[in-house]
Amino acid sequence: MPKSPILVTGAAGFIGFAVTRRLLDEGYKVVGLDNLNSYYSPKLKKARLSELARHPKAKNFTFKKLDLANSKAVIKLALATKPSHIIHLAAQAGVRYGLINQVDYLNSNLIGHFTVLQACKALADAKAPIKHLLYASSSSVYGANAQPGKPTKPFAEADDVSRPVSLYAATKRADEMLTHAWAHQFGTPSSGLRFFTVYGPWGRPDMTPLMFTEALYKKQPIKLFNKGDLWRDFTYVDDIVEAILRLMPHAPAATPTPHTLYNLGNQNPVQMLSFIKTLEKVTGKKANLKLEGWPATEVYKTSASTAKLKKAVGWAPSTPLEVGLTRLNTWYQTWAKPKA
Ligand SMILES: NC(=O)c1ccc[n+]([C@@H]2O[C@H](COP(=O)([O-])OP(=O)(O)OC[C@H]3O[C@@H](n4cnc5c(N)ncnc54)[C@H](O)[C@@H]3O)[C@@H](O)[C@H]2O)c1
Repeated sequence: MPKSPILVTGAAGFIGFAVTRRLLDEGYKVVGLDNLNSYYSPKLKKARLSELARHPKAKNFTFKKLDLANSKAVIKLALATKPSHIIHLAAQAGVRYGLINQVDYLNSNLIGHFTVLQACKALADAKAPIKHLLYASSSSVYGANAQPGKPTKPFAEADDVSRPVSLYAATKRADEMLTHAWAHQFGTPSSGLRFFTVYGPWGRPDMTPLMFTEALYKKQPIKLFNKGDLWRDFTYVDDIVEAILRLMPHAPAATPTPHTLYNLGNQNPVQMLSFIKTLEKVTGKKANLKLEGWPATEVYKTSASTAKLKKAVGWAPSTPLEVGLTRLNTWYQTWAKPKA
């Protein structure tokens, strides 16, 4: 029997592209949507779409340029697609952008997320319920849970998440709560995925792995917050994709509420100074560091407990940082080459 299509939001984004490519590899039909906004270079988003167009199974991929704020059009697309699963990755990402632009977070992460929930209900009402909604949350919901000088244990899904330190984190936590209530009221089987600092080829130019790689090649200074004493649980993008595919058949049980949360992280936090050393090693370049203070939007440390994910699917991310950064560096060298 042919597999039903999967609807992927944010399909031109870093993780959405990687998920779409893997779903095509696995023989799925994918309908992708994205508004191709200019938070970072739309050229990179279009290049990802061109890469998907070159996929051997590209005929199984349909792309629609659409903003999630246009709920009517999104629901219409969902009803025409009748997807078995929705993988919802579109969002206004990044924490520091929230210091200068707040409205995009509310439009994409709250209104946009709500549109996806409405689409799930419209499908159920049309007797074509989805099997599972998997949506992106973030490790940033753990906020100020880790502090310098205090012992930290890996963050677990049941930990307190009532102290977000960025507008982005607050919208992601709000999405988790909206989805919980929606699942409770309307029975939409949903899993929120708390991603921990995702990196790899085709990555985001606003995030440190690609931003710092580029700075090394261009001999630009690299700013390190809190003098390099911030820790991130860097997670390789293919591991995130693997986790999503493994979770697809694991919709939460209908009772008491078909909603659950998973950490998707590497369970191996790295201090930024050590991250720079690894990046210098894989690129063969020396960093020009500018040690700075600690901006309000940054959490001190992220560290994932992946016990719940392992219990559900018998696997968890583990790609070593040096392996992932080597692949990022190889991709960057091709990407940065002047195009003929
Ligand atoms: N990359 C990470 O480290 C990380 C960490 C935690 C959580 N996340 C979450 O994972 C998801 C994917 O992140 P990413 O790194 O691929 O980011 P990304 O910015 O590369 O991808 C998001 C895509 O969504 C699209 N988009 C944004 N608002 C939209 C809207 N209103 N309508 C339609 N499309 C819209 C953007 O154009 C973009 O292509 C996001 O929800 C993000 O918040 C990412």
